[in-house]
Amino acid sequence: MFSILTGLFSADMAIDLGTANTLVYVKGRGIVLNEPSVVAYHVRDGKKQVLAVGEEAKLMLGRTPGSIQAIRPMREGVIADFDVAEEMIKHFIRKVHKRTTFTKPKIIVCVPHGATPVEKRAIRQSVLSAGARKAGLIAEPIAAAIGAGMPITDATGSMVVDIGGGTTEVAVLSLADIVYARSIRVGGDRMDEALIAYLRRHQSMLIGESTVERIKTTIGTARMPQDGRGAVMQIRGRDILNGVPKEIEINQAQVAEALTEPVQQICEAVMIALEATPPDLAADIVDRGVMLTGGGALLGDLDLELREQTGLAISVADQSLHCVALGTGKALEYESRLRHAVDYDS
Ligand SMILES: Nc1ncnc2c1ncn2[C@@H]1O[C@H](COP(=O)(O)OP(=O)(O)OP(=O)(O)O)[C@@H](O)[C@H]1O
Ligand SMILES: [Mg+2]
Repeated sequence: MFSILTGLFSADMAIDLGTANTLVYVKGRGIVLNEPSVVAYHVRDGKKQVLAVGEEAKLMLGRTPGSIQAIRPMREGVIADFDVAEEMIKHFIRKVHKRTTFTKPKIIVCVPHGATPVEKRAIRQSVLSAGARKAGLIAEPIAAAIGAGMPITDATGSMVVDIGGGTTEVAVLSLADIVYARSIRVGGDRMDEALIAYLRRHQSMLIGESTVERIKTTIGTARMPQDGRGAVMQIRGRDILNGVPKEIEINQAQVAEALTEPVQQICEAVMIALEATPPDLAADIVDRGVMLTGGGALLGDLDLELREQTGLAISVADQSLHCVALGTGKALEYESRLRHAVDYDS
């Protein structure tokens, strides 16, 4: 038996296994772990040995010598590297579950609405072999909406847009079920790529992952600033032409220009969802507006840009980075009421 998984209480858990971040919610305790979905390996004689997981491993991304690999096992919301994902899940569960008992926990994990049966089975299998007694799956948009405090059990249409690292999921819910959902492979990662490509093209400069993250969270914006320039920041990278390190100033107008395409794709996904929604539910959404969740929802002025392009009222959820984990946790706490939202056996 997987002894580390043992605790005084059976400590059932909810896991948001995200492309960028993994969060673990323990029943009765709330969110107890929130770390980047990254695993660092040492490769020696062809054998992989885990060196670090989560926060510590993220610091190594882009800074590893040849013998060390830092891997993100999730891509576009699903497991891309099965073995590495399993290592990561095991590590996080072990970290949360320190005490000794004989009961294995029940674990609920959220999966993108568009995950295939094969992908779902892979996630369930990883959780079981990480030591769960029972593995349940919940659709991410439902978890996001619950976590954002939306009244999803009502017979009214609600729209939730979860903008994560790998994907943006747009969903219309009514009576605690999905009426419409669509996932596009556009999220924080795509925004990073767009910024990197922009700086390469316009400044002949190469920047690393930590710099791009800093740009997004410091002066990131989805809209052209009114003065045509906006706030500025200094960034460092490498000159592509001569390979020498250089420092430049970047402003919000440049960031908005770089992010035009991903922002546009998110706006279009919302419009397409609204058009595909049955008229009465669409009218509810016009009345009640749209809720944004996920880390991408924190991009500066994304709510304003979406409001302008779609004409809908847009809110950003409180604790948008935690919504999916909180919602999955609620599904665990109030299982009798939300039982049909959790799938234990497909
Ligand atoms: N202030 C911010 N502005 C813009 N982007 C941000 C901000 N804060 C976080 N992000 C981005 O949000 C993303 C992470 O969000 P989140 O944790 O919701 O994703 P995830 O759940 O891991 O991914 P997915 O749901 O696609 O599997 C990262 O790409 C990160 O750069
Ligand atoms: Mg997510």
